[in-house]
Amino acid sequence: MERKNEAVLVMDFGGQYCQLIARRVREQNVFCEIKSYRTTAKEILEAGYKGIIFTGGPNSVYEESAPKCDPELFTCGVPVLGICYGAQLMAYTLGGEVASSQVKEYGNTKASFDSDSSLFSGLPAEGVCWMSHTDYIAKPPKGFDVIAKSDHCPVVAMEDRERGLCAMQFHPEVQHTENGSTMLRNFLYNVCKCSGDWEMSSFVKDTIEKIKAQVGDKTVVCGLSGGVDSSVAAVLVHKAIGKNLTCIFVDHGLLRKNEGDEVEEVFRRQFDMNLIRVDAKERFLTKLMGVSDPERKRKIIGEEFIRVFEEEARKLGSTDYLCQGTIYPDVVESGVGEAEVIKSHHNVGGLPDDIGFIGLVEPLRDLFKDEVRKAGTELGIPDFLVWRQPFPGPGLAIRVMGEITDEKLDILKDADAIFREEIAKAGLERSINQYFAVLTNVRSVGVMGDGRTYDYTIALRGVTTSDFMTADWARIPYDVLAKVSSRIINEVKNVNRIVYDITSKPPATIEWE
Ligand code: XMP
Repeated sequence: MERKNEAVLVMDFGGQYCQLIARRVREQNVFCEIKSYRTTAKEILEAGYKGIIFTGGPNSVYEESAPKCDPELFTCGVPVLGICYGAQLMAYTLGGEVASSQVKEYGNTKASFDSDSSLFSGLPAEGVCWMSHTDYIAKPPKGFDVIAKSDHCPVVAMEDRERGLCAMQFHPEVQHTENGSTMLRNFLYNVCKCSGDWEMSSFVKDTIEKIKAQVGDKTVVCGLSGGVDSSVAAVLVHKAIGKNLTCIFVDHGLLRKNEGDEVEEVFRRQFDMNLIRVDAKERFLTKLMGVSDPERKRKIIGEEFIRVFEEEARKLGSTDYLCQGTIYPDVVESGVGEAEVIKSHHNVGGLPDDIGFIGLVEPLRDLFKDEVRKAGTELGIPDFLVWRQPFPGPGLAIRVMGEITDEKLDILKDADAIFREEIAKAGLERSINQYFAVLTNVRSVGVMGDGRTYDYTIALRGVTTSDFMTADWARIPYDVLAKVSSRIINEVKNVNRIVYDITSKPPATIEWE
């Protein structure tokens, strides 16, 4: 697709903050893309990037296998900002001196900054920046001025104003660096001369036009799950082609309480979309009968999901395009050398590729999750969908431990609904990244009134995380937990014990199965 916005390139040298840098750039209203460090100056000039940012990376420039860039990048006239390893690489390639320190400098570091430089203009002369490095720039290359230093690091930042080359040993993209966002902004606006034309309202408008151009008067089918990505993708396509879009919502009966109805209400009533809601609960539960192994549950649900979707899509006759809610992190494979591998992400376990679609419509391919949310709000999708916490494809099947029955599902749905309601009442919805109830397979003895009970244990799980790869258990206030516990015991039959999961990931996973 032709690019309308000005853009900056983030070159991935294997640093863990690659995507974070890209998000920080976009927060400054400048569109940016991530590509491999192998991208050449020629490709960069052809693509018309207004600036380049080198990420950090785990290597030392002296290692033979260390990733190096096309040296012409420094002479092609496009401004470059090197961060951490990227800074050292710039110094090394241009004839400066990179030295290895005996100790790693890690964490918050006080530094002094030159407020007259392009990067630090308008900022205080002293501040805290976040470092994580062993090698350091001992001497800048010819033509560079040192524009920041610290007690341990002679070149915390440097710039060659004439050539538009800048480098920072620290990480401006992490929150611990004071004014890090302004530093990036200074690079984008002062050095690259960006104007900041990346705005959600224009993205929405342009994308609707692009979909119209791509699809014309052909038809599109979309698998709607009620998750934010597929919802926003579907609404964008709907705005572009109206009733030529049909959404298929496979209700496997493993959704949370009332969720199916809520999703149907929004898309059918509010947006007046062509929506097919398939009530496939019996079909899924029959397949799952007697199954308690979590991986088998996942496999059965994944396969059945595709089968149901295919059947419904076939009933529509010939449909031309398939719409998917693929987002940017799905597109960019992180890691050195992988950055350009583009995969078609399968949101629900697999693409029904034998139906014969002529192509895919993926309107969110360029967006990060927080941008998808912004687009959703811009499109008028209600907050409860836009801010919905992640929900696994296999749904409650992996939150009912062991064999799944209708009775167990009902217990779990009721308990989970109470938990979510109390979290919302306490105003904690957006500070806990994922929270849910689990129906354990444990029954224990209790006492209620004068009688002995022998009932289920519900586990509550709440985590804070930024990427769901690691997570900490959420410190939910005791009084909120107390309220949830007493409400579940009083309002949900067959439950007599509530526990709160205080394990981080690793060693535990977020889900229990
Ligand atoms: P774990 O349990 O692996 O979960 O720490 C990490 C994140 O992934 C979600 N999850 C799944 N999502 N299908 C999905 O679509 C699955 O089978 C699945 N298993 C876990 C989980 O909810 C959490 O957000």
